[in-house]
Amino acid sequence: MTFAAYAERRSRLKTYFDATAVKAWAQLTSDAPVSRIRETVRAGRDRMRATLLAWLPDRLSGVRVLDAGCGAGQLAVEAARRGAAVTAVDIAGNLVELARQRAPSELKGRIEFRVGDLLDPALGSFDHAVAMDSLIHYAVDDVVRALATLAPRVGRSMVFTFAPRTPALSLMHAAGKLFPKADRAPAIEPVTEARLRAGLTRELAASGWEIGRTERVVSGFYTSQALELVRR
Ligand SMILES: C[S@@+](CC[C@H](N)C(=O)[O-])C[C@H]1O[C@@H](n2cnc3c(N)ncnc32)[C@H](O)[C@@H]1O
Repeated sequence: MTFAAYAERRSRLKTYFDATAVKAWAQLTSDAPVSRIRETVRAGRDRMRATLLAWLPDRLSGVRVLDAGCGAGQLAVEAARRGAAVTAVDIAGNLVELARQRAPSELKGRIEFRVGDLLDPALGSFDHAVAMDSLIHYAVDDVVRALATLAPRVGRSMVFTFAPRTPALSLMHAAGKLFPKADRAPAIEPVTEARLRAGLTRELAASGWEIGRTERVVSGFYTSQALELVRR
């Protein structure tokens, strides 16, 4: 397992989300009209965000939440609305700026926006960490390593999503490879659930973490699966 691969992928993601895709991402995360295909993605993402938020405790007043890879800040805003003290971090500075601008003024004191790596220890400690679709571009061993790196700074739960390896996704993945490299988003890394679970158990069980709930969301062109890790 090499963390050099994580850094290399992160740098490509920064270029993509900070420049290439920033407009498309701003549009997808707003109420602006989008294509039928993107509507399915938007609907799926709404369901996934609701799922992850539902896995946090009902009472979030004063609870510290890390929105790891916050993008345009949708989840951070919802968590702050419920009273959480949110740190929203993303490697793409332009998206963080968009998130900062979009955050309702009454919530601004509850969200600290940061540009940088979601694994940066300088971000501090949290009760819960949420990574919605921000680890889907990393190889499974790096996802496990990233969560194991974050774990000592998280007290209660870590919830994240992965792209489950399904025949339909493998086909899309293969089709994506037909496009010229410059036009492509960094590839999503399909993950075999059993391999992910085995890696998480190997790296985290000894420090008191166990695997909790899981839920897959499929909506047109969006497929993503949430997984919860909780401290015993
Ligand atoms: C698919 S977007 C999802 C954004 C947001 N979580 C949401 O669901 O709306 C993935 C985000 O993760 C960010 N990201 C990926 N790797 C990261 C890292 N290592 N540190 C911080 N942000 C990262 C990207 O810049 C991008 O904004």
